[in-house]
Amino acid sequence: MTSGPATDFHSHLIPGVDDGAADLAESRAAVAAMAADGVATAIATPHFDGSLTFTPDLANARLAQIDAAYTALTADADVQTTGVRVLRGVELMLDVPDPDIGDPRLRLNGGRFVLVEFPALQLPPSNADFAIRSLREKGWQPVLAHPERYRNVDDSLDSLLALRYAGAYLQLNAGSLLGFHGDGARRRAAALLARGWIDYASSDYHSRGMPAVAAARASLSSSGAAEQAELLFSENPARLVRGDAPIPVAPLAASARTRRSWWSRLLWRR
Ligand SMILES: [Fe+2]
Repeated sequence: MTSGPATDFHSHLIPGVDDGAADLAESRAAVAAMAADGVATAIATPHFDGSLTFTPDLANARLAQIDAAYTALTADADVQTTGVRVLRGVELMLDVPDPDIGDPRLRLNGGRFVLVEFPALQLPPSNADFAIRSLREKGWQPVLAHPERYRNVDDSLDSLLALRYAGAYLQLNAGSLLGFHGDGARRRAAALLARGWIDYASSDYHSRGMPAVAAARASLSSSGAAEQAELLFSENPARLVRGDAPIPVAPLAASARTRRSWWSRLLWRR
């Protein structure tokens, strides 16, 4: 099958606003690297703490800083020459469970989708699903960034299933498939894909090293998952930019053993 251009909605390309590109020179190189990896549309998602929204002056100052740097990035001739369309969003840290994300700059391309993460790569044991449900009840569509990176998710993956039930979509980091985030993240990435629970894949590119989009797509395709790779990297993220829900992604290698053990645990608890 032919592969379409990638749409990447999780990246740290905006100069000088977070731990991504330090300056415009790094931003230029990063956008060029995205273009070389087949990315046609990227949403730049600098880190933004949800708790800031409770102090409007601080939130507005942070957004003004991002606005100025985003304008510098998209006005740059070298960035424009790459042909990559760079849109706006943030990676919203749910350091509080109920941030106010009424400002469209806090959502992906200003639509109803919002990219979220929890602090310190730990899923809060008590209120993670409340936070997801709360965003949904306000009309927003949360997308949880890199679920495979949470260190307190055990092999049952039950805590991530709870977030899916609460209404979150899940976004895998491309680099996790290649071991960039360690063995645990690679193992959880494979397990999530095997269950068909991942809706999107993006780079989370911090403007250093490689975006890993092309390598991860190639890795999936060579293991017989070309159709899933297309949905994860191209079709579903393009749908997100348009405001449409993702197409379900078929399990990569859903073994009968994995399914039996999940159901047997559920039944055993009753
Ligand atoms: Fe990120």
